[in-house]
Amino acid sequence: FIMTNKYMYFVANWKMYGALSSLNTLNKVIKFSKSKDINKGRLIYCPPYTLISSFSKKFKNCQIGIGGQNCHEGENYGPYTGSVNAHMLKNIGAQFVIIGHSENRERGENDKLINLKIKSALRAKLKVIFCIGETLNQKKQKKTRSILSKQIKVGLNNIKNKSNIFIAYEPVWAIGSGFIPKSEDLFTTVQYIKSKFKVNFPKVLYGGSVNTQNITSLKEINNLDGFLIGGASQNAKKFIDIVKKTYT
Ligand code: PGA
Repeated sequence: FIMTNKYMYFVANWKMYGALSSLNTLNKVIKFSKSKDINKGRLIYCPPYTLISSFSKKFKNCQIGIGGQNCHEGENYGPYTGSVNAHMLKNIGAQFVIIGHSENRERGENDKLINLKIKSALRAKLKVIFCIGETLNQKKQKKTRSILSKQIKVGLNNIKNKSNIFIAYEPVWAIGSGFIPKSEDLFTTVQYIKSKFKVNFPKVLYGGSVNTQNITSLKEINNLDGFLIGGASQNAKKFIDIVKKTYT
């Protein structure tokens, strides 16, 4: 098995960072995306809502994807101050949306609401990056599998066609902490996640403290289809470095 031949996804989650001035930093990434170093993978940027239009214009002539970091579950316009729905994201050029990120689960999003959001995003013809993961406490109590199982079951309830869904496995304790799971644990958890799907295994990404150093061990985990990268993705050089190291 040669990792360099595998089609991998690299999703940049910018969280609540970035301004119009950040657009300049993308030039390097655009240039890189056109080089043959990346002909076997796909870069996807998920900036804050305020930058989606500008990013999508900037990426007009290249293969870099664009996504939102969340969306409202409503399908129509409505009196929901501060919210943006999947159709609105699609309308300004997004092709992807992250749903169920633990930073939003912590603020009250539950599996049922996440399920509604995923359905609305699929109807808007967005591809969904569906985040799941256990907290440190749940891990300590050996509840990782039951938590992931429930997140998948409820989050994807009544969704027949799962071909536009990516799973991002993000252990909550690994996000922004500098810690990553042991390789064998990560491998078996990803197998477990894939085993929850009878047909058409979803693509599974790993997220949580991915950086330019640990990518050399993470890339060896050969059931992964890519990475969801927070902190390190805001720096173009680091982001490119992670992609390059995955393929060398
Ligand atoms: P991190 O974030 O890479 O900064 O840990 C990952 C994420 O929250 O998606």
